[in-house]
Amino acid sequence: MPDLMELSRRAGWNQTTADWERTLTLCPESAFGIEEDGHVVSTTTAIRYANDLAWIGMVLTHPEHRGKGNAKKLMDHTLKHVAATGTRWVKLDATAEGRPLYQKFGFVDECPVERWKRAAGKGPNGDRHPLVHDYVVDPSFDRAYFGAYRVPLLNALAKQGAAFVVGYGYAMGRPGEVAAYFGPCVVGTREAARKLLEWFLSRFPNQDLYWDLFPENSDAVQLAIDYGFEPARHLTRMGMPTRKGETPLLKNNSSVFAIAGFEYG
Ligand SMILES: CC(C)(COP(=O)(O)OP(=O)(O)OC[C@H]1O[C@@H](n2cnc3c(N)ncnc32)[C@H](O)[C@@H]1OP(=O)(O)O)[C@@H](O)C(=O)NCCC(=O)NCCS
Repeated sequence: MPDLMELSRRAGWNQTTADWERTLTLCPESAFGIEEDGHVVSTTTAIRYANDLAWIGMVLTHPEHRGKGNAKKLMDHTLKHVAATGTRWVKLDATAEGRPLYQKFGFVDECPVERWKRAAGKGPNGDRHPLVHDYVVDPSFDRAYFGAYRVPLLNALAKQGAAFVVGYGYAMGRPGEVAAYFGPCVVGTREAARKLLEWFLSRFPNQDLYWDLFPENSDAVQLAIDYGFEPARHLTRMGMPTRKGETPLLKNNSSVFAIAGFEYG
């Protein structure tokens, strides 16, 4: 764990020890690393959402070990492993540094993803609205928007805080190494999303905050602006089928106000 935290910290990423532990628990057979001199210097994780989709994340190489083919080796190994499990699609959120690597493996751009951030005290804190309830998983609702069955992930994330507005959708929030994290949030209207955002803000008052959203979702963008968030990083969601001719996963980003994390989708 100290090696893993060193890797994500050196990249300026937000994962805590609890995040790494959750991720490894969700993919015990498809998290891979390369060791040198007794230390983990490169990692890749692939969380499978049933047989529909494997989500690749935590692609990291220690700065002193970059450019030696480690990430390429791990990606090759991971993709072969995923294909052997019969999983239909592979996706990921690529940083500008990672994108050239993924393009070489055949990943194709799907849509932009942005990290928005808010510095402590730069916007209104929220109230817990009476219409916001504790969260109950509705697997078919989430699947209709995300495009794959990810209930084990949602159940794991919900332990750190989750809420829903009956008939509209849900949101979650968790602490982070750099900033508290809003997401995932899948909800039908901007007004319901506002209530869920306020629930999150009331849980993490006066802290730095992160929110990863699709810039194509103009309601999410407007809400982020209203509450003092600003764009900080641009990534690219990329995907590819494990076999030629595989039918695309049916998804709908219009109600996805926040993704679950770059390592989760
Ligand atoms: C991206 C990262 C994982 C690459 O790790 P690495 O072990 O140095 O990568 P490799 O040595 O296996 O290089 C893989 C390929 O990508 C290319 N590549 C790596 N970094 C690149 C960069 N910044 N720009 C363009 N190409 C790059 C290499 O040229 C290589 O291709 P080649 O063998 O055809 O020359 C590493 O730079 C890193 O940890 N960055 C910070 C975290 C990050 O952004 N991770 C990606 C998340 S999506």
